[in-house]
Amino acid sequence: MNPFDRIFNRYRNFPDVDVSQGRSIAYSRSTTRRMMELIDANGHGNVHGGVIMRMVDEAAAIVAIKHSQSPTVVTARVERFDFLAPAFIGDVVSVNCTMHYVGRSSMEVGVEVTAEDLINREIRKIASSYVIYVALDENRKPRPVPPLLAENEEEAKIIEYARQRRLRRQKIDEEFKQLQETNDAQ
Ligand SMILES: CC(C)(COP(=O)(O)OP(=O)(O)OC[C@H]1O[C@@H](n2cnc3c(N)ncnc32)[C@H](O)[C@@H]1OP(=O)(O)O)[C@@H](O)C(=O)NCCC(=O)NCCS
Repeated sequence: MNPFDRIFNRYRNFPDVDVSQGRSIAYSRSTTRRMMELIDANGHGNVHGGVIMRMVDEAAAIVAIKHSQSPTVVTARVERFDFLAPAFIGDVVSVNCTMHYVGRSSMEVGVEVTAEDLINREIRKIASSYVIYVALDENRKPRPVPPLLAENEEEAKIIEYARQRRLRRQKIDEEFKQLQETNDAQ
């Protein structure tokens, strides 16, 4: 098949997804890794933050696409992005992504990034983030996604913690909105 026809079909004919069937965290968990090269770093050999951010967005989107079985997911928010330590040319950067929470159409993916020095085998945690994706339908409207199922107590805690973060986030968003409206009215 012509590659352009394949792309066209992929984004025109979305699969029917049974949203009554939950999916586990293990179902979509994913790791991507890549060795850092000259082009990824500044003149001191430190990897640019933007390179790590791009790897995170690409890796976390894989989790959201797999869980939702939706060809189109968009990044709605990067909730946090903490850089904890530098990565250097020659390090292997691994982006470990786990689904933390699923709403109606949105999904929060938790991300941990490590850098490994293959020579001395040292592994450092270099960044962490929470990225929120929204699954879209053929008309680019938010589309329901399957629920997320906890398989043990530890996973139940991860999901509950993310649910509380979502509530807190919505409260802060509402406060900012009111503040903006007050400022606009003055
Ligand atoms: C994200 C987007 C689809 C939301 O559209 P919308 O019309 O506001 O949708 P809704 O208000 O119905 O919200 C849909 C879901 O997204 C969530 N959402 C929307 N904006 C959000 C934000 N900024 N942060 C977190 N969650 C958000 C809502 O909470 C809701 O979640 P739920 O279905 O799990 O309850 C829309 O704002 C958009 O297309 N943004 C641009 C995305 C983009 O281009 N990203 C960069 C490249 S991928």
